[in-house]
Amino acid sequence: MKIDLEGEMETLLIPLYGKAKMSEDGIFRDTFAQRAVTRLNFDFSKLKIQKKTQVMLAFRAEYMDLYAKEFLGRHDESIVLHLGCGLDSRYFRLGKPKALWYELDFPEVIEIKRQLYPPERGYSYIPSTVNDHSWLDSVSWKGESILIIAEGLFMYLTEKEIRELMNVLKDRFGSYTMIFDVVSSLTVKYSKHHPSIKRTGAHLLWGIDNPKNMEEYLDGAKYLRTIYMTENPNIRKLSPYYRMMYRLADIFKPAKNAHKIVIMEIT
Ligand SMILES: C[S@@+](CC[C@H](N)C(=O)[O-])C[C@H]1O[C@@H](n2cnc3c(N)ncnc32)[C@H](O)[C@@H]1O
Repeated sequence: MKIDLEGEMETLLIPLYGKAKMSEDGIFRDTFAQRAVTRLNFDFSKLKIQKKTQVMLAFRAEYMDLYAKEFLGRHDESIVLHLGCGLDSRYFRLGKPKALWYELDFPEVIEIKRQLYPPERGYSYIPSTVNDHSWLDSVSWKGESILIIAEGLFMYLTEKEIRELMNVLKDRFGSYTMIFDVVSSLTVKYSKHHPSIKRTGAHLLWGIDNPKNMEEYLDGAKYLRTIYMTENPNIRKLSPYYRMMYRLADIFKPAKNAHKIVIMEIT
């Protein structure tokens, strides 16, 4: 399958490859990513995806999987809106949960994703930029609990776009839970030197040092918690070298803060 994406769309290949490689190494389990990587006609070596990036992106995906599973277990009727979904296979990794599941990304991405994972009952695609809010009309909502997953997305949006999105989601659903990852302002500043992001031509636009400040973006927004990559229990599965790297990063605040997962509740 030919793949010819650029900029922020091409960045989806980085977590896809990370999840596939870490599955080979037994750090994560994503046979779907492994299969996708072999089906795509793409030379991943071009993106110079370092092992530490692969590890971190697999950890990120795993935490979000766990959280989604736990959320769906807590709510009988739910809708998951997976924004900037890339070629991620979370719906399949979670064993096709009962919730209504929507995958949103640019049309070029959805076109490829449809070939890898054809839509099925309860699993639909929304080919759109997240910034054109008319995409919300495609969501069939009858009062179900809403989980928004934005993994590797917000750093490619501006603060204004994120604020508008959060507000429009509240106008539409009244309340929702959102799990997403954020980078720090320092990470944004140095992202032009990141070997893989640099090669895609994408630009990181937004970072935040204290995610609690996002409560100011809209009324009813409650910051619940931050999950640091350096605290992931799976670090114990890594080689002594990477375990030491994570231990050092946990002590060095700018490294610990560089990229983290955040959960918020909007009511
Ligand atoms: C780093 S990738 C993450 C992909 C996926 N969430 C994962 O973790 O494997 C970023 C994704 O966000 C998507 N994206 C970036 N800006 C977007 C926008 N304005 N609207 C919709 N999708 C966007 C890109 O196309 C890409 O698929």
